[in-house]
Amino acid sequence: MSPQTQASSRQVDGPLLKVTDLRTAFRTDRGLVKSVDGVSFTLDRGKSLGIVGESGSGKTVLSRSIMGLLPKRNTERSGSVVFEGQEIINLSLSERRKVWGKEMSMIFQDPMTSLNPVMRVGKQLGEGLKIHLGMSKADARATALRLLQDVRIPEPEKRLDQYAFELSGGMRQRIMIALAMSCGPTLLFADEPTTALDVTVQAQILDLIGEQRRDRNMSVILVTHDLGVVAGHTDEIAVMYGGKLVEKAPTRVLFSSMKMPYTEALLNSIPKIEDPSHTRLHVIPGRPPDLVNPPKGCRFSPRCAFVQDRCREEEPPLMSAEHPEHVYACWYPVGSPVHRERTAQLAAEKVGAL
Ligand SMILES: Nc1ncnc2c1ncn2[C@@H]1O[C@H](COP(=O)(O)OP(=O)(O)O)[C@@H](O)[C@H]1O
Ligand SMILES: [Mg+2]
Repeated sequence: MSPQTQASSRQVDGPLLKVTDLRTAFRTDRGLVKSVDGVSFTLDRGKSLGIVGESGSGKTVLSRSIMGLLPKRNTERSGSVVFEGQEIINLSLSERRKVWGKEMSMIFQDPMTSLNPVMRVGKQLGEGLKIHLGMSKADARATALRLLQDVRIPEPEKRLDQYAFELSGGMRQRIMIALAMSCGPTLLFADEPTTALDVTVQAQILDLIGEQRRDRNMSVILVTHDLGVVAGHTDEIAVMYGGKLVEKAPTRVLFSSMKMPYTEALLNSIPKIEDPSHTRLHVIPGRPPDLVNPPKGCRFSPRCAFVQDRCREEEPPLMSAEHPEHVYACWYPVGSPVHRERTAQLAAEKVGAL
């Protein structure tokens, strides 16, 4: 038995994934870009976690950092990533290769960048099965066919001999899911898996990921800029801003009692059915923070409608809310006297302006 198989078959107590004070920065001409800046969280087996935040908040770098998918050159990384009881932050490339696909796998936003354009679908699905699971060519083809059936691709047999470019966007994303599922990972990362798809196909793909998670007792980390996407598809939600985790709660709790004005602003930026398509009427004003020189105090303070002096001076730590699994980083959260007073003031200004 290989060390990897021993590790995965060992009964390990505690969470599937424990990330502690993870930091990832890139050395650039402008200075050190601190893309992930002290993120900690845990994820239990079989659970799904949504990571949500504006574009540029560090979601992709966080996911890739956990998987060890970032090139070492020009990258500074510290902290701890314990997966199935094993510290994986400093694994060598060959050790990481054993983890990829088999233990953790990833679905990307654009399947065309990860699918091989010159290899038939069946062959691509079969490669991992042969390498990781030691299957024969015939077994790999039979399993590839079953995977395509699992992800409900029409005419699966025909697809085995097609190339990615011959298929629709939704079908390619299903193949990416089949590919990610092929070696039975314990943890699946889905990074904006539906952003490039139209709304109906989006829902189908998210349902499919959820179904695969339940069938396989797999954990899922669903990364998206759209709070609406994770609402019905995750057990918990972590909100990122400027490289930091700023709020985390079980999904139901987050939607019923969000604390961060930033989370509230993200919620307000979800496009409504009645909005003209592809418009965002309530974008958050201002720009995301500079990750080379982030603002002092709370990183959201320059854009926050509820900002007070303390917010510009003192960085709020993650604090506990009423619910034991709810944390947030804000001095004057939603529902606090300062927030309520300012909300009333803003409403009055709006009426006055009419
Ligand atoms: N290789 C890199 N070199 C320098 N900066 C990077 C690199 N990769 C990502 N970044 C920066 O890190 C920040 C977070 O990026 P990313 O994780 O892709 O955001 P998100 O996925 O939330 O949209 C961005 O400001 C981005 O410009
Ligand atoms: Mg991203």
